[in-house]
Order: sequence, then C-alpha cells, then structure tokens
Amino acid sequence: MKNKTIMLLVGIAIILIVGLLSNKYLFNTTTQETPLFSSNDQRYDLQKDTRNYTKTISMTLEAKEAKIPYNKQLIDMYTYNNQVPGPIIRAKRGDTLNITLQNSLDEPTSIHWHGIKVPNEMDGVPYVTQEPVQPGKNHTYTFNLNQTGTYWYHPHYNTPEQVGKGLYGILIIDDNKQDVNYTQNNLLVLDDIRLNGNNIMPFGNPHDAMMAGRYGNNFFINGKSSFEIKTKENSLLKLNLVNTANARIFQFGIEDKKMLVLKKDINPVSKPYEVSSLILAPGERAEVLISINSTDKKNLNLYDYNSQIGNTLGKIIIEESNITNQNKYYTSLIKEDKSENIPDWANKINQAPNATFNLHHSIIDGEFRWTINGKVYPEDPESVTLEEGKFYKFRYINTQNMVHPMHLHGQEFIILEKNGVKQDLNEFKDTVLIKPGETVDIGFVAQEKGTWVNHCHILEHAEAGMLMEVHIK
Ligand code: C2O
Ligand code: CU
Ligand code: CU
Repeated sequence: MKNKTIMLLVGIAIILIVGLLSNKYLFNTTTQETPLFSSNDQRYDLQKDTRNYTKTISMTLEAKEAKIPYNKQLIDMYTYNNQVPGPIIRAKRGDTLNITLQNSLDEPTSIHWHGIKVPNEMDGVPYVTQEPVQPGKNHTYTFNLNQTGTYWYHPHYNTPEQVGKGLYGILIIDDNKQDVNYTQNNLLVLDDIRLNGNNIMPFGNPHDAMMAGRYGNNFFINGKSSFEIKTKENSLLKLNLVNTANARIFQFGIEDKKMLVLKKDINPVSKPYEVSSLILAPGERAEVLISINSTDKKNLNLYDYNSQIGNTLGKIIIEESNITNQNKYYTSLIKEDKSENIPDWANKINQAPNATFNLHHSIIDGEFRWTINGKVYPEDPESVTLEEGKFYKFRYINTQNMVHPMHLHGQEFIILEKNGVKQDLNEFKDTVLIKPGETVDIGFVAQEKGTWVNHCHILEHAEAGMLMEVHIK
C-alpha cells in the first residue's frame, strides 16, 4: 500500500517535471542546438505562436565573450547567451518583458530596446536613463509590449565596438489576432563583419568615423556568410528583416520577385505596397510577404543591390508541393486600406517645423566630430524640450555628403516630407535615412516624460558626437 502510494507520487512528480520541461522548451525558442557550421539554422524559422493569452517573458541575457563559428572558423565575439545574433525573443502584444542583463564582459554595458515604447528609465542609455552596468553586475528591464513588429535590442555603451562584435538580439512582437496569412515565416538579420583571417579587426579607426562608418568586408546574415531558406512552391513566405550593421545600408531584394511590405519599423503599414527592393539603413526593420509560384526558378538569390563586396546574401530553395496557389490572397492584400492604423497628418504638411537640425561635421579641439546644429555629444549636446501629448515637427537638413539614418528613441514618427515633397504617411517609423542634400520633416506626438536621445544610427557617427537629447516634460 505504502509502496503503491510512493510509486503514484513519483509518477505524478515525473509527469509534472516532464510537463514543465516541455513547456519550457515550447516557449523558449532560444535554446535550440544548431549544428556548428550549418547554413540552415532553425532559430530563424519562426514558428507560429498560437497562444491566445498574454504572459510575462522572463529571461536572463548574459553579455559575455564567446567563440562563434563562422565560415569554418571560430571568431571571438561578444554574445548574449553565447549566441550571435543573440536570443530571438518572441512575444505577443500585451506581453510583459522581464529581462535581466548579466554583465560578464570586462567592460560596462547596457541594453537599449530599439523602437520599443518603454518607460524612460528602461531605455538603456548610460548616463541619460541609467548608470552603465559594471562588469559582474546585473540590471533588470521590465516593461509591457504594446506595439507589433520586428525590433531589436543592443547595448548603448561603447556601442560601435559592442554591437560590431555581435552584441545584439531580436525581439519580434506579433498581434494576438493574426493580421495576415502566410505559410512560412523566416527571420533575416542583415549585418556585416570586418575580418582579418579569423579575427575581428580593431575598432576605433578614425577613418570609419570620418567617412561612412565601419563597413565589414564579409556579410554576416543570421550569423553566417550566406543564408539559405527552404520553402515550398505556392507558399506565402513572410520575411522579417532587421539591419543590425554598424553602418552598411542594405538594399535587399529577391531575384525576380516582388515583396509586399506589411510592416516597416513599427506596427502594420496602413496600405501594404509592393517593392522589388527595400532599402534598410542600420536600425531599420521590415516585414514582407512573398508569393512563391510554381513557375519560379527553384533557387532564388537574395541580394544586396547596394553592395560592393559581392551582392549575394544567400538563397531561397523552393521544393515541390501540392499546396494551392495563394496569389489571389496576396493580390487582395495590395488593395487593403487600414488607414485607421495611422493618423492623418496631411494637414500638418504646411506647418512650420518646431525644431530644425543641421547635420554636419566639424573639427573640435583638433578632433573630427559629427555635429547637430554645430553641437556634439557628450560635451555640449544639442537639446530640445517638448511637452508630452503635443504634436511636433522636426526638420533634418543634411548639407554634407554622407548619409545619416537618424533614430529617435521612445517615439513613433511619420515621415511627412522629403525636400518639400509630401510622403505617403503610410507607416510609423523610429529611424529615417537622410541622404546627402536632403531635407526631411518628421511628425510625432511626444510620448512618455523623460530624456530621450536622437542620434545617427551609423554607430561611428553617433560615437563621434552626432547624438542629441529630447526632453519630454
Ligand atoms: Cu538602436 Cu540609440 O539605438
Ligand atoms: Cu533606439
Ligand atoms: Cu551619420
């Protein structure tokens, strides 16, 4: 009798433990082992999250050095949890993130949640929203997720070197109701790396800061030199794209295919639109849909049309299938109009800007610096003070010959005009590429009190001074 009871209890305990473990693996998309040098890495196959409840996602991100396999060699990189890119955090709108950063590096660090609306003290900007997290110390970030789309997280301390050595991860937030149908969903993290043999070349080359920033001499796509996606004919392939490079502007495209843009930076666009290539500056993201037809070639190359280091990023391999073609559905999406997603700010076009920012460079105390209205961070940064809840128009003027993807923390803006030409007002952004000679106006409603930074996302430019403060009162 006693024995039977014990056996029963042991049995229940085993069932509970197995249940807990499988639950852990079900939700933890980050612990999958991948073969050392394989190009097909399952971490980037995004499984549908079918749960219809919200939850708190708790995890520890340990910033530490590790050897990362790349092109049949091992490279010393900075990692979150021994991975580059770091863990891919999957969430749903309404979930809460509870992330502890454990700093096992030899230098201070922090985590910034790029594009996410967070309380100011969660924004991860050292000396502005928090103290840097010292070696051996930890820091917990917790906030709710109220947007959808593809986001990323990265340090904001010694940023060119830490991000350049691989310290970044991806955060994908889906809606509770699925907004578009697709057969398959893959993530493509676009990056490059500057290698000499199997060593990352040293950071801080003054030439990088003075010119277009630090470009790599190899692609680093989902952590590989080139990446393959397997899919089936007649399927609808959704791609989530992120540019995590220090400086490289990608012009992403798929051989012979058009892509339907569903999301750009933040939340769905109001009217999905087709493109044959997509420019993604550092920090920018997009979610696109591709209709794979049985008449397509069986191998489609992924391209960066902007590149000088060879332009193939990888390929899509198409396998036979008996799925029915979904082109009709794809075409129906092009006609969709979800204008309620975006405020109509057409009446703001003729309004004078509340602030104008001249993007330039200068020699200050004998050093080359990137400036905003002649000012530099951290010694003497440009700053503006705004009132929470009010509409503002910022104007960026680039009278110099380098591009500057300007990124605004904690806010969602709409690009209103470029060189006086009204834009589509179709999407919420957090990063806008300002090309040489361009004047760009953005509009937004100031959100969340605190000090937010606005900077060039060419990390070498920001480090050389191109960063300012936006105080919201
Ligand atoms: Cu993605 Cu302040 O940066
Ligand atoms: Cu940011
Ligand atoms: Cu710049």
